[in-house]
Amino acid sequence: MSAKLVVLISGTGSNLQAVLDACAGTVLPASVVAVISNKSDAYGLVRAKNADVPAIAFPLADGESRRDYDTRLAALVASYEPDYVVLAGWMRLLTSNFLSVFQNRVINLHPALPGTFPGTHAIERAYEAFQRREIDHTGIMVHLVPDEGVDNGPVLATEIIPILPDDTLESLETRVHQAEHRLLVETLKQVIR
Ligand code: GRF
Repeated sequence: MSAKLVVLISGTGSNLQAVLDACAGTVLPASVVAVISNKSDAYGLVRAKNADVPAIAFPLADGESRRDYDTRLAALVASYEPDYVVLAGWMRLLTSNFLSVFQNRVINLHPALPGTFPGTHAIERAYEAFQRREIDHTGIMVHLVPDEGVDNGPVLATEIIPILPDDTLESLETRVHQAEHRLLVETLKQVIR
C-alpha cells in the first residue's frame, strides 16, 4: 500500500529530505502530500518546493493561543487526508487540539534515547553529559505522540550512538543526524507495512 504523509518541520529539513528521497525511489511506499512549517523561512520549505510538494508556511498568528493554533493546524493537515503525520524537526509542542484528530498517526523523531534529554538541544546536552563522564553513548528514537508529553510516547524504534573519545559536538551531531535520516525512513517503512 502507498501511504500519504504530511511532514511538519521548523528548520533545515534534512530529515524531510531523507523521506522525500525515499518516497521518490522504491525505498518507501509513500508520498509526501504536504510539508508545513511554523517558520516561514525554514529551508525545508525550499526542499519541498524542489520536490514539487505543497510547501506551506503556517506561523502562529498575533496573540493566538497554542490551542487555537493547533485547531487551525489540524484542519489544514486533515485537508490533505494523511495516513500519518511526521514531525521531522517540528519545534512546537502539540496540544490535544491537534493530537486528538490524528490518534496513533503522529510520529516524532527525537535525537536522544527514550526518557533522556527531552526538549531542545538534546545532542548538545548529551555531549555535555559525556564531558562530565555521566554517559558514554546517546541515541535516537522514533515514537508515536499520543498526548502532550514532551518527546515521550510509544517507542517505534531506537538506535544507540556511541560518543567517541575524540568527538566534538559537531562530529557527534553529524553522526546523530546521519543515523536519524536512516532510522526515520526505516521506521516509516515498517509502520506503513
Ligand atoms: C533533528 O535532529 C530532529 O530529531 C530534531 O530536530 C532536528 C531537525 O533536523 N527534532 P532537520 O531539520 O531534519 O535537518
